[in-house]
Amino acid sequence: MKRVIVATLFLVIGMLLVWVVFEPKIAPYYMQLTQARVGLEKDLQPPSQKEASFVGSATCKKCHEKRYDHWKHSRHSKMIQDIKKDPKVVVADFSKLPKDADFTLEEAVYTIGGKFKQRYMIEAVIDGKKDFRLGNYQWNVQTGKWQRFKPWKYWYHDAYPHDNHKFPTSNTCDGCHFTGFMAIGKRVEPSIACENCHGPGSNHAKDPENPLYKASLHDPIRANEVCLQCHMRNRDKRLEKDPDIRKLWMKAKDYPAGYEPGRALIKYKLAAPFISGRETKEFWPNGAAKKNRTQGNEFVKDAMYQHGITCINCHDPHKLTNTADKPEGNAACMKCHGFNSIIGPHQASLEAHTHHKASSKGSKCIECHMPKTGRHTGKSPLTVRSHMFRFVSPAETRAYGMPPETNACYACHRDKSLDRLQKSLDAWGENQWATQEILSHYLLEK
Ligand code: HEC
Ligand code: HEC
Ligand code: HEC
Ligand code: HEC
Ligand code: HEC
Ligand code: HEC
Ligand code: HEC
Ligand code: HEC
Repeated sequence: MKRVIVATLFLVIGMLLVWVVFEPKIAPYYMQLTQARVGLEKDLQPPSQKEASFVGSATCKKCHEKRYDHWKHSRHSKMIQDIKKDPKVVVADFSKLPKDADFTLEEAVYTIGGKFKQRYMIEAVIDGKKDFRLGNYQWNVQTGKWQRFKPWKYWYHDAYPHDNHKFPTSNTCDGCHFTGFMAIGKRVEPSIACENCHGPGSNHAKDPENPLYKASLHDPIRANEVCLQCHMRNRDKRLEKDPDIRKLWMKAKDYPAGYEPGRALIKYKLAAPFISGRETKEFWPNGAAKKNRTQGNEFVKDAMYQHGITCINCHDPHKLTNTADKPEGNAACMKCHGFNSIIGPHQASLEAHTHHKASSKGSKCIECHMPKTGRHTGKSPLTVRSHMFRFVSPAETRAYGMPPETNACYACHRDKSLDRLQKSLDAWGENQWATQEILSHYLLEK
């Protein structure tokens, strides 16, 4: 009898061990992946938040020191900076500002950005209202040069005068760069702060029992929308009913005005159109990014989005870093993916999947699955990484007439043609059907 009990005990412990050691890698995300989707329409904003007002990040800091600190060191807190408070926020060389510039450093109130490019906001009265205009030159950090800036040349060019002096930032920029402007049209605080992602916090700050909206991994659709409100190219929602943009003279908005975190974004946002096979200002004909700020447009088309993966699976929402130690490292992907696992890659090892040495740059997931396809301005280098994730073959790049340097293989092998690279890929013999399928779709559409 004793033996039977001991044997059973061993068996149970053994099974537990096997379970712990061989637990499928996807397990931590299993809940997230199998949760019923909230759909595009459901409002998840806590009721007590609906009457709340914006209080600013200094109030949140009192009780949330650590998150505040993480956020303060991220670029979200540095998007709009006050030049008068700290002149060091200017990264441009104003001694080289071209003679026909329509602004001076003294006139500039705020800097916008500064990592890839920096633009300048100048106080102005436009259409009878106090507003801001944009200087006619921007500083390109990547090239270290001043270059012209004509913001009105974008999709709304028929809704605004072709003159920077009469082009207001309130309708076309501020919703995504100031706190509160998206929801209530007021500049509560410069830059992207707590309440842009958690909603207005007055009730919560008075009594923390009043919940704030917290994008969670249990509702991946609403969670993604917190980022998509800004990280996705748009059109004015009113164009859905009436496509005549001239009726929105001085009114066309380039952000989902009225949206607050937790609400259904689709009621406020009209995404920039993408037509398969057609190149636009924003997208290549296969949907890959040509410009920055397109992460959402690309990601919603990807299998990962459709399976409930979110921006915050890969980016810490406060630090903004990839949660893996090294942004360029494979760990960011391998926390879910595994060789010969259900979600792939379907080969037994890294080398078997990539056909490059494990130590080679050619074995880095993001080099093949997030190639650099976009630019920050027409004169910037190709540095914006695609968030489409599916592999784009050399044959696909060629069939869509895209520049070869947007192809992952070609980006590293500029001495070989797309056709040559496709032949190497075919010889690896694992993806022919996928390429064929994409090409046949393309041919049918034509
Ligand atoms: C008076 C202190 C106080 C202030 C001020 C405060 N909070 Fe909180 N907050 C709390 C406490 C306490 C909790 C619950 C802590 C916990 O158990 O995670 C909380 C929880 C949260 C949560 C998590 C909610 C959840 O469902 O898990 C978020 C998000 C949050 N606060 C954001 C903010 C933001 C943004 C502000 C500023 C608008 C703010 N808080 C201001 C005390 C405060
Ligand atoms: C860019 C959007 C964004 C900004 C800005 C932001 N948060 Fe968050 N915050 C999130 C998301 C998304 C989560 C949920 C993370 C998760 O579920 O893993 C979160 C979670 C939290 C939590 C709960 C943490 C937990 O583990 O439950 C607190 C508290 C919080 N944030 C406070 C703040 C404060 C304070 C600020 C401003 C200093 C701030 N957040 C700024 C997006 C943001
Ligand atoms: C209110 C608009 C807004 C929201 C909401 C927002 N972002 Fe951003 N995000 C920006 C802007 C603007 C920048 C550029 C900041 C800069 O370069 O100064 C940025 C930059 C970033 C960067 C690059 C950081 C770097 O160091 O270069 C990442 C990553 C990012 N955001 C992720 C997210 C994620 C994830 C969410 C959702 C949890 C989110 N953002 C929500 C506007 C927003
Ligand atoms: C729908 C939201 C949205 C609107 C509208 C918008 N931006 Fe941005 N902007 C972003 C986001 C998100 C980023 C960062 C992500 C990226 O660049 O891929 C960004 C990045 C930038 C950067 C680069 C920041 C850096 O550090 O290099 C500048 C400069 C900028 N925007 C200026 C503008 C100006 C000027 C306008 C108005 C003409 C504008 N933006 C309109 C969301 C927006
Ligand atoms: C599967 C992981 C993953 C997901 C999901 C993901 N990202 Fe990223 N993202 C990355 C990686 C990796 C980089 C490149 C980091 C680097 O080069 O240092 C990156 C870069 C970025 C950048 C910087 C862009 C630039 O050109 O420098 C922004 C902004 C960004 N992501 C926003 C988002 C947003 C918004 C979402 C959701 C719509 C999202 N990401 C979803 C992995 C992811
Ligand atoms: C949070 C978990 C998670 C993370 C992190 C993650 N993935 Fe995924 N990935 C998934 C799931 C789930 C699928 C869907 C699998 C399926 O279709 O069966 C998927 C599918 C894919 C696919 C095939 C479908 C497609 O989009 O064409 C590729 C390629 C991919 N992931 C690449 C990456 C890369 C590269 C990274 C790192 C930058 C990454 N993944 C990070 C969970 C994740
Ligand atoms: C040298 C380029 C290259 C690198 C590096 C690379 N992949 Fe792939 N990946 C491919 C190709 C090619 C395919 C097949 C595409 C097809 O079938 O259309 C693929 C397909 C996939 C798929 C789809 C499922 C499958 O097995 O067909 C996943 C998931 C994936 N890769 C994840 C990863 C992850 C995670 C990494 C990093 C560990 C990675 N890849 C590194 C080229 C690469
Ligand atoms: C990030 C850069 C990078 C990417 C992306 C990349 N490679 Fe490579 N590739 C290399 C390097 C470096 C070598 C040298 C050998 C090594 O390190 O494995 C190499 C070697 C090769 C070789 C064998 C040696 C030679 O030059 O003839 C072939 C064939 C090859 N790559 C094809 C491809 C194809 C096809 C793709 C796209 C699926 C691709 N590579 C993507 C960097 C890259």
